[in-house]
Amino acid sequence: MREGTDQTPVAGVKNRSPLLCSYAEQYQRSKPFDGLTIGVCAPLTPHTGLFADVLATGGGEVLVTGEAGSTHADVVEWLRERPGVTPLAAAGMTADELADTRETVLEAEPDLLADDGAFLLSLVHDRFPEIARGVRGACEQTTGGITRLLAMDEQDALSFPVYDVNGTPMKQHFDNVHGTAESSLSAITSLTDTMIAGSVAVVAGYGHCGRGIARKLRALGARTVVTEVDPRKALEALADGHDVEPMADAVADADLVITATGRYQVLRREHVDTLADGVVVASIGSAIEIDDSALADEATSNTTEKPGVERYELPDGRRVTLLTEGKVVNLAAPGRSGNPSHVMDTTFAMMTRGLADLADSDLPPGLHPVPDHLDREVAHEKLSAMDVDIDQVTAAQRDYHDRWETHDSTKPDEQ
Ligand code: NAI
Repeated sequence: MREGTDQTPVAGVKNRSPLLCSYAEQYQRSKPFDGLTIGVCAPLTPHTGLFADVLATGGGEVLVTGEAGSTHADVVEWLRERPGVTPLAAAGMTADELADTRETVLEAEPDLLADDGAFLLSLVHDRFPEIARGVRGACEQTTGGITRLLAMDEQDALSFPVYDVNGTPMKQHFDNVHGTAESSLSAITSLTDTMIAGSVAVVAGYGHCGRGIARKLRALGARTVVTEVDPRKALEALADGHDVEPMADAVADADLVITATGRYQVLRREHVDTLADGVVVASIGSAIEIDDSALADEATSNTTEKPGVERYELPDGRRVTLLTEGKVVNLAAPGRSGNPSHVMDTTFAMMTRGLADLADSDLPPGLHPVPDHLDREVAHEKLSAMDVDIDQVTAAQRDYHDRWETHDSTKPDEQ
């Protein structure tokens, strides 16, 4: 068999990222980011590496930083050789070192920002307001980041327009629902050798990520229990066939507890008292959802079975396995790089299209939805790359639905 020619750490991602690869080809000519400095902050995985390279191909001077525990050393080395890209994060950096790299990004006075968790966006407004005034626009791709930005927007604290990429149908329905669920479940089962079929799985939060993982767990044969704080989401979970209980009750029978809320201490000290013996606990939402210090305080011993798998023994003999110290398991588990390339292609395509749009935009400061036509275009491009055709709205359908005057709705052609 002939050996593949592309031996770079992004080779596999490129094979499953037709949109980013097609933008790279177009941008060699059109250069939408010519003369612009772009700051990127996201887990520095092969996907982010390819994204940064596409922005640089489009003429941008791109500075890239990352998040704790997810920087791939080989991607950093590869990016060092790419024209127009400066990687600032390195594998193994402490939180303080990473914070310094974020300041370095902002000190370069970026025109555009691409963020994951609003790390750059909160820092630039809080500590570098002069630099914030020079930013043309930004894109944010996560639920957690958008929660912070909504608070900033309500207080009129944003100095430039920010696109809510997380709010696009393309991001929510594919990346959050399917990508996160699949990559997290495969990380959990490969770390723990857990059998899903026949188990009791508790999912905290029935938003996009929680719904996705609860459905997949049930499809694999688990008995699923959802915990929620939003009564409408709780009803939706019931209607979808899951049980709904408060966390304190749900954990008593659980084999697996997965948090998917983005909220602080969803699994906390009071729940440690009722956790079932042998339970596996993981977060797919964020690193703040599981109070690991409560486990550590209550436990009589703590053993690292292998990287990413810690077993706590409680005084009454119950054993609790915590995955990846409560950090998001699909990113923090050894050898993992988050969601599958197939969905990261569309998410980073939305980020790329959003940044190109903002480079020339006169939008006022504040949090804005991504224009719907961009979301549709990305969806069409993805379908076309997958060689899938869909129907078109006919002229008669458009005409019928556009008419607002009173008419006999059963006989459109006789009007
Ligand atoms: P979402 O807003 O759609 O859903 C969150 C749900 O959690 C809501 O239904 C909310 O009512 C519920 N919730 C809040 N507090 C709760 C509590 N104390 N107990 C039970 N339920 C509670 O958000 P989405 O898109 O599902 O994202 C959830 C988290 O996952 C966010 O932190 C997001 O950043 C993260 N995420 C992680 C990814 C990954 O690859 N690991 C990818 C995408 C998002």
